[in-house]
Amino acid sequence: MKPMRTVFRRVRNPPVYTGRPSCLSSCAGSGGPLPRRDEALISGSSRELARRLGSQVEVRAAFISEEEEGALLRELEPGLRKKRYEFDHWDDAIHGYRETERARWGAACVEVLNRVRAVAFPEGSPLLGPVHILDLDGAGYIKPHIDSVKFCGSTIAGLSLLSDSVMRLVREDASDEWLDLLLPRCSLYILRDQARYNFTHEILKDEESVFNGRRVPRQRRISVICRNLPG
Ligand code: OGA
Ligand code: MN
Repeated sequence: MKPMRTVFRRVRNPPVYTGRPSCLSSCAGSGGPLPRRDEALISGSSRELARRLGSQVEVRAAFISEEEEGALLRELEPGLRKKRYEFDHWDDAIHGYRETERARWGAACVEVLNRVRAVAFPEGSPLLGPVHILDLDGAGYIKPHIDSVKFCGSTIAGLSLLSDSVMRLVREDASDEWLDLLLPRCSLYILRDQARYNFTHEILKDEESVFNGRRVPRQRRISVICRNLPG
């Protein structure tokens, strides 16, 4: 099988960006707030753009609890530890990462993944079977890219473990149109349709990791990504 980096991503020339605050949250405690769409986690070149994209971009803070994060990590860490972080593929969309796929999960994780699928994908939409796991080193980052339209469908949904981060979307044919998403640890983000096809997405490196003027330290981060199949 081809490595996932060639299968999943099409790297774009980094678009020019002219940037510019702010709410950090962490995992849901038991009995914590219900997962919900959270506008304070999205900021961008104009309000109009965020309005236009509407539900095509969502960030839900505290989508999983710390216990659920722990359950995911317990399943993922042993396999990840056997791999080395990759730093030097010049043509890669990602710098400083290791990745894997996982099809079979224990009960606690199945419950979490079913919740992700229920909120992110239309009922009955055929999903890419294995879940994609991306482990970014503290010094790692994801360059602007669009996921392969050949292998992935209209929706990308990702859980963020271990670290807050900033995801930037930039319109491919108009780089002055951009949105920054603050992805708190334990949040879920969803990119759909135009946000997925017409905007590049990237995860900022630690030195550049700022949301609305506020610094968002980027530590090691593991993402658990569900995708559907092309229609
Ligand atoms: C990818 C990607 C985002 C993330 O693997 O193609 O964009 O949240 N990942 O790790
Ligand atoms: Mn991607």
